[in-house]
Amino acid sequence: MSIAWNEALAVGDPSIDSDHRRMIVLIAELEAAAGGELDCAAIGRTLRDLSELCRDHFAREEALQRAVGFPEADAHRTAHDMLLKRLDAVLAHYADGCDEVRSGIVRTLGDSLATWLVSHIVNNDMEFKPYVAGAGQ
Ligand SMILES: [Fe+2]
Repeated sequence: MSIAWNEALAVGDPSIDSDHRRMIVLIAELEAAAGGELDCAAIGRTLRDLSELCRDHFAREEALQRAVGFPEADAHRTAHDMLLKRLDAVLAHYADGCDEVRSGIVRTLGDSLATWLVSHIVNNDMEFKPYVAGAGQ
């Protein structure tokens, strides 16, 4: 799945929106790196960057949700934790070595991450958009 930023994905918080933009760029890079000629270093680097960004971003987003009194914050955190576990598992598997099979797994991950992120932003992150807007009033 090709993935691109558009304004319909904005939740209205500059740092969260900029994280989401960066995540979209990294997922596209991951898909490109895993889809081309086998470049283990590039795939590994992008996987680690993405994992680090997701960890930092989810923490920022969860703190914002608590700050604005978003009532679904706990359930939302569970969705983040599940994604992090999945990323960690692929990262650990990939760190064991790099070959065509593993790059195929990363390619599948990139594709499902693209789907997950867009659906997560549109269906879940949008739920706290009104709280972000309300907090500024
Ligand atoms: Fe989220």
